[in-house]
Amino acid sequence: MKAARFSRFGGPEVLEIVDLPDPHPGPGEVRIAVRAAGVNASDWKKRQGLMDPELPQTLGYEAAGVVDELGEGVTDVALGDRVFGSTSSGAAQAELTCLSFYAPVPESLGLAEAATLPAAVETAARSLDQLGVAAGATVLVNGASGNIGSAAVQLAVVRGMRVIGTAGPANHDYLRTLGAEPVAYGEGMVERVRALAPDGVDAALDVAGSGVLPELIGLAGGAEHVVTVADFRGAQEHGVRFSRGDSGRALYVLGEIGELVGSGRFCVPAVQTFPLADVAEAHRVGEAGEAGGKIVLVPA
Ligand SMILES: NC(=O)c1ccc[n+]([C@@H]2O[C@H](COP(=O)([O-])OP(=O)(O)OC[C@H]3O[C@@H](n4cnc5c(N)ncnc54)[C@H](OP(=O)(O)O)[C@@H]3O)[C@@H](O)[C@H]2O)c1
Repeated sequence: MKAARFSRFGGPEVLEIVDLPDPHPGPGEVRIAVRAAGVNASDWKKRQGLMDPELPQTLGYEAAGVVDELGEGVTDVALGDRVFGSTSSGAAQAELTCLSFYAPVPESLGLAEAATLPAAVETAARSLDQLGVAAGATVLVNGASGNIGSAAVQLAVVRGMRVIGTAGPANHDYLRTLGAEPVAYGEGMVERVRALAPDGVDAALDVAGSGVLPELIGLAGGAEHVVTVADFRGAQEHGVRFSRGDSGRALYVLGEIGELVGSGRFCVPAVQTFPLADVAEAHRVGEAGEAGGKIVLVPA
């Protein structure tokens, strides 16, 4: 099968499409013919050598496609079913991949749209769970208009929370459509949040990693009320919890998201597709912040 891979760290030019042996599902896994695989900011961090040290590396933790092989013990889906989910192999940007966690793709969703969801909704649900907030709470999401932030806003609204979200001014109307009260990030952010919530917020989620953990701690009344998914160094410095998938995944949300999409309570982001063969161009566009939505790769 064809798969995206790099054998040295560097710019997008290090990415190549290679032939790898076809994978086979382990117990409880399903193999899919990949129709679309999500591209995330972690992909270029990996390619730059900022995450895992080993080489070569394949890419991709989320995909949607059609089941073409069942692992031992799998009875909840059948060959030919449309599913989406996460792979533990980190090789979803390929013609075939094995999903360890999966759910049926809702009728209302195309496979490219479905491929945008697993990482964003799992990260959002996990970090909201770790904040320990419930209906009636006010939550601040820093970086609310991106992939993970927009999922966090919507899941928090579904859970009955009031959400204040930071974003660039061009995305403020978008945040309103998701149910959040927008504020601009940058100088004066704390005052703008306090204008909306004079007593501060109950919890804050940092998705942007923009170096504002002390401000978020002040607004939320303590480091224990803040979680970051993007500022590892700041988390260590300020005693804030850094949330990552290997500390327990909120996979239950994959099974819930179809109903939320179908009932209009969760909007799927705009999608920009690239052929798998154009993975380097997809990285260039994504890294430059020029994507017209969430990027997915589509095998030929
Ligand atoms: N730990 C985990 O489990 C985990 C999992 C997945 C991803 N991540 C990390 O999460 C981060 C976000 O990923 P993403 O895909 O959501 O990125 P994204 O789609 O590019 O969104 C970035 C967000 O940050 C906002 N932003 C930009 N500059 C900002 C600033 N100075 N202050 C506040 N907000 C600012 C953007 O707002 P505007 O566009 O409106 O300007 C946008 O809302 C990445 O670092 C990624 O590696 C972590």
